Amino acid sequence: MSEAVFGSKVLERLWGDPERRVARAFSIEDLRLIAKRRIPRVCFDFVDGASEDEVTMGLNRRGFEELTFRPRYLVDVAKRDLSTEVCGTPISLPVMFGPTGLTRIVSANAEVDAARAAAAAGTVYCPSTATSTSMEHIAAANGGGSRWFQLYLWRDREVYESFVRRAQGAGYEGLVVTVDVPIAGKRERDYRNGFTLPLRLPLRQRIEAARHLEWIWGYLTGPPLTFANLAEEGFGDDAALLGQMVNKELTTASSTYQDLRSLREIWPGKLLVKGTMSVADAEQAVACGVDGIIVSNHGGRQLDGLPATIDVLPSIVAAVGDRVEVLLDSGIRRGSDVVKALALGAKAVLIGRPYLWGLAAGGQYGAARALEILREEIDLCLAMIGCDSVRNLDPSVIEYRPGHRFASQQPPMAEAGRA
Ligand SMILES: Cc1cc2nc3c(=O)[nH]c(=O)nc-3n(C[C@H](O)[C@H](O)[C@H](O)COP(=O)(O)O)c2cc1C
Repeated sequence: MSEAVFGSKVLERLWGDPERRVARAFSIEDLRLIAKRRIPRVCFDFVDGASEDEVTMGLNRRGFEELTFRPRYLVDVAKRDLSTEVCGTPISLPVMFGPTGLTRIVSANAEVDAARAAAAAGTVYCPSTATSTSMEHIAAANGGGSRWFQLYLWRDREVYESFVRRAQGAGYEGLVVTVDVPIAGKRERDYRNGFTLPLRLPLRQRIEAARHLEWIWGYLTGPPLTFANLAEEGFGDDAALLGQMVNKELTTASSTYQDLRSLREIWPGKLLVKGTMSVADAEQAVACGVDGIIVSNHGGRQLDGLPATIDVLPSIVAAVGDRVEVLLDSGIRRGSDVVKALALGAKAVLIGRPYLWGLAAGGQYGAARALEILREEIDLCLAMIGCDSVRNLDPSVIEYRPGHRFASQQPPMAEAGRA
């Protein structure tokens, strides 16, 4: 037994086997609760929190909860197919890992673990520009899996052009441009916890953090919590300075659709915009030549007061769904949420917090468990509503509850037929 393997066995004894730990999670909420116990509060809140009063984060959940199903029985659903294709990328289930900055805050090798878990499950991990592992390193970690990368439209055009060249060089096929961060959202949990980069915790937070030995061990022995992609661009490796730069340069209050058009000219692969919440913006993005639109409110982390993404999805699908693929994220916690989004026209969904909780709960095993839970729940939901493939979902499987604002557009359940 090598020293490294022996070392990891000793540590496993100390903090428990992560695979067994996450096997006890039966829902995404279970993973969240394990994560809450295992990482310091400042890190948990960074992931769990949203902006201001966190109203939009709550609406995302309510949007799904207010939709119910209109099942059909005695339909042959013995075989069910969860696979689909998004912008030319085949995926084994309609769930992908969305971009999350500073993912490494939840565990030592979080970004590599996420890449491996997604590739093993046959889906995509789309790393953020703001990861602590470089995009090249992450690309190498996902083996032969499909690669998408998230980009911000930097103030300095040379920087994002360099990112585009590097993404191409590293074999990324899809570029996701996030447009809903003209400036960073006001995340008050982070302010209250004294969240800074590098982490310099107030005494109270340090005492709390000291209870999470596994996380501390990973923090001290793993790669630094910084912005590796920027360091690779030659901006140095001082996390505090890079953090300031991210806030000043990466959040692009001066970007316009002209920048998106310019990006389209230099990026030959699939191009998606993320953060679209209106038909007008969707139309403009389509006019710029994008291949896909991700309806997203950033999980409620940006403008508090935005509606639930599931509530705006149908109008965006109706407007541009015949020209580009439409995806959705924000608030997915159950397989049935995924089914609802697909029924209303999304090609697939992305998740953020669910896989971060998985990583915090058990590294690669936890991220894989998040996908496994959603896969089982999607499969179960398909069987229960009488649909044999995620590609055959349509709005007829949705039953709007009385009083729902779209309820009047739907024939009553008893009268409705579904082929
Ligand atoms: C901790 C965290 C960091 C995030 N960082 C980014 C980012 O760097 N770029 C981006 O486009 N979206 C980012 N997001 C938003 C996610 O891509 C996604 O839109 C959101 O998490 C979806 O909502 P959910 O967490 O409810 O699934 C982040 C989300 C979280 C939770």
